[in-house]
Amino acid sequence: MARTIDIGTDRQAALEAASAALADGFAIAIPTETVYGLAADATNPAAITRIYETKGRPRFNPLICHMADLAMAEEHAEFDPVSRALARAFWPGPLTLVLPLKPQSSIHSLATAGLDSVGIRVPKGFAGALIGAFGRPLAAPSANTSGGVSATSAAHVEADLGARIPLILDAGPSAVGVESTIVKAEGGRLRLLRPGGLAAREIERVAGQPLLRAKTASAAIEAPGMLASHYAPGASVRLNATAVEPGEALIAFGSAAVSGANSARIVLDLSPRGDLAEAAANLFDYMKRADASGAQSIAFSPIPEEGLGEAINDRLQRAAAPRD
Ligand code: TXA
Ligand code: MG
Repeated sequence: MARTIDIGTDRQAALEAASAALADGFAIAIPTETVYGLAADATNPAAITRIYETKGRPRFNPLICHMADLAMAEEHAEFDPVSRALARAFWPGPLTLVLPLKPQSSIHSLATAGLDSVGIRVPKGFAGALIGAFGRPLAAPSANTSGGVSATSAAHVEADLGARIPLILDAGPSAVGVESTIVKAEGGRLRLLRPGGLAAREIERVAGQPLLRAKTASAAIEAPGMLASHYAPGASVRLNATAVEPGEALIAFGSAAVSGANSARIVLDLSPRGDLAEAAANLFDYMKRADASGAQSIAFSPIPEEGLGEAINDRLQRAAAPRD
């Protein structure tokens, strides 16, 4: 069983217990502003192996490496001027940059799945402080079984991974609620590999250029694990619903009128006032609640494809994708 420490009341104890567990090569759950992460020392191959095993994650799917600050990031990755401008504008925050790995980086090749690039971000709040205290980058995917719905609370982590990890740090619900936006620097141009908690237009405004979005054949390799079924609850998922079938769960948005709603097993609204940031923060928790209602199918109201709606729709399409 995992020990849970509330960082609101026991911040120092949390820092010490986490640093000790990380130094011993364990994978532990830590809060970030996007989702809870399953973190381990990115320079320790045995520790990274624990992440893959705990999640049941394919090892060809590289992990994001989390840094304390831009200075630590520059020890491991090669920044071009545009990437540096993005880092200065948005770190700490929900932006991951995929950059060339420096040959002298101590990040282990298991974390990068042997690629010559590395996905890097500086998380907000406690996670950043923990990395600073620990002194080494932390590899951290979302703290959930591979293919399942990401964890946005300590209770989500406990329910899914509690029996497999020693420590969960609890900072309450994740503020952003969806994973970071991933952008890859390609010779001065920027490619969006995964929409996420930072809206694409914010990145375009600072970069002074549009993000490349064309899905190429290599997108499967560049964002592995991101194409097939993912973020999948137990129930099946039906998108753009304007009517509910009896016994379905309904997850609405913006107080949308949905016929048959009174015969739904449960009705949740991601944001009654139509705020996409609020909807993102509620998304994974509501998916888990709809799942727990026992419904065989979850119907979602349409979500506008603007701002954080792009990340929400991306996660919903993967949740609705055929499963193997
Ligand atoms: O918000 C987040 O990003 C969360 C929190 C915990 O920080 N982390 C997260 O990590 O989602 P992870 O490891 O699951 O992110 C993985 C995505 C994968 O789809 C992977 O393919 C992509 O990042 N990625 C990592 N390194 C890459 C690289 N060198 N090249 C291309 N994609 C990479
Ligand atoms: Mg994940």
